[in-house]
Amino acid sequence: MFKTGVFRELCAISAGIEGFLTDREGWLLYQLARRASGGCIVEIGSWQGKSTVWIGLGAKASASHGEPSRVYAIDPHTGSEEHQKPGEKIWTLERFKANISRNGLDRIVTPIVERAHNARRAFEQPVSLLFIDGAHDYDSVKQDYELWAPLVVEGGYIVFHDTQQAGVKKFVDEIIPTGPFAKVYFQDTICYGKKVVRHSSVDAFRGRAMIRLKNEFLDVCDGAVSKEHKKWVKQRVKFVRALLTIL
Ligand SMILES: C[S@@+](CC[C@H](N)C(=O)[O-])C[C@H]1O[C@@H](n2cnc3c(N)ncnc32)[C@H](O)[C@@H]1O
Repeated sequence: MFKTGVFRELCAISAGIEGFLTDREGWLLYQLARRASGGCIVEIGSWQGKSTVWIGLGAKASASHGEPSRVYAIDPHTGSEEHQKPGEKIWTLERFKANISRNGLDRIVTPIVERAHNARRAFEQPVSLLFIDGAHDYDSVKQDYELWAPLVVEGGYIVFHDTQQAGVKKFVDEIIPTGPFAKVYFQDTICYGKKVVRHSSVDAFRGRAMIRLKNEFLDVCDGAVSKEHKKWVKQRVKFVRALLTIL
């Protein structure tokens, strides 16, 4: 799946944009943006546009079925706490806009230069894909989810990034098994599900199992263990993850 010419082309584009996303995560976002329908796409946390470009190109590729979904990219462009250093001013909007333009996405991506909770006040459109990658402390992720998830249509995707970060992990581990999610899946640090109105016991089982696997995968990636052990755990995790997708 990863060996296609399109994937290689997109990786080359992505390599030219500073940001925080693996190519596998970008490819997943691209595929979800291609599939998303019934609403616009909202990204919370864009930085210089690495994820926005994967998502925007996915939305553009889906345009063969009609109009591409519009992508609203919300970011105050002043960085998160972890980016800020005393005496240094962060301002990423110009680089973000340049990356969007260079990739022919001006007509698809609309930047909203605000914090997500302020942007939500004037936003009432249905959303087909919500990508949450703003501030990573527990309260902010929870607030982003609680304010924006109600706009997601049934069958739309809710995607969390950086689920290895303590605050994000805590919230995602709580909400995924108990919230309105079906078809939960993870790729590297991304964890996502499809929004459902009623969440069955099978959905809950798959959600819990995917969360356990994701944490096992992320722990072994970070852990001081031998290469062989890492490889073995990763292979096992991938095998069980593939089995779980049958549910
Ligand atoms: C981890 S970076 C996003 C990385 C980006 N998605 C990428 O692929 O490179 C987090 C971003 O969230 C933004 N941010 C911080 N607090 C926010 C908030 N309350 N609402 C929206 N964005 C926020 C920061 O300015 C920063 O650009």
